[in-house]
Amino acid sequence: PAPPLVVPSVLPADFSRLGDEVRELCEAGADRIQWDVMDGVFVPDLTFGPDVVAAAREHSTVGFEAHLMVADPDALLERYVEAGCELVIVHAEACTHLHRTLARIRGLGARSGVALNPHTPADTVAHVLDETDLVLAMTVNPGFGGQSYIPAVEPKIATLRRMIAESGRPVELEVDGGITDRTIRAASAAGAGVFISGSWMYAYPDGKKAAVERLRTAAAE
Ligand code: DX5
Repeated sequence: PAPPLVVPSVLPADFSRLGDEVRELCEAGADRIQWDVMDGVFVPDLTFGPDVVAAAREHSTVGFEAHLMVADPDALLERYVEAGCELVIVHAEACTHLHRTLARIRGLGARSGVALNPHTPADTVAHVLDETDLVLAMTVNPGFGGQSYIPAVEPKIATLRRMIAESGRPVELEVDGGITDRTIRAASAAGAGVFISGSWMYAYPDGKKAAVERLRTAAAE
């Protein structure tokens, strides 16, 4: 199997030093960087507008992905692609016309992703895998960093892995929420290949580079 990808979330960063924080994540070996975009409606918190992401873009040597935890993703897609996000992830729960939204993301020149909340079944993506470059199985209820991993999502991760294999398409399977060097083992064993980490990584005593390396090792254990 492909080596695990470690994608830090910027959510725990010091927002007064975003350029430096992004540079540190790149130096730590991040494969990509995830922007947790929250609109205060789909989830209670309110975070990064596209201008903030654009301002940080020049400080990064790795790609940006936008995780749009927003009620109306279609209204924002273009701005986050223009801000420099090469991958845009929308929540299936926020998309009345998910197939069209995913096609629109690709039409804008970015890769498309669809996120599923813990309660949302894997079958939700059964008919859109040909429009999808990544499926994100949330392992917490979105909206906050620092929450506990939800093991009940693991059967869904395994189901998604099978669906992707049967589709024959190069769709990445990502997990986000409560990922540590311990929970990453079960998520990886269930079939996830891309791991978002926020609070655990920022709290790691030996620094971010050691945290990224620890996650890579633990995913393969
Ligand atoms: C949830 C966010 C968080 C964040 C990572 O809305 O998406 O999952 O990316 O947070 P941790 O790693 O602290 O759970």
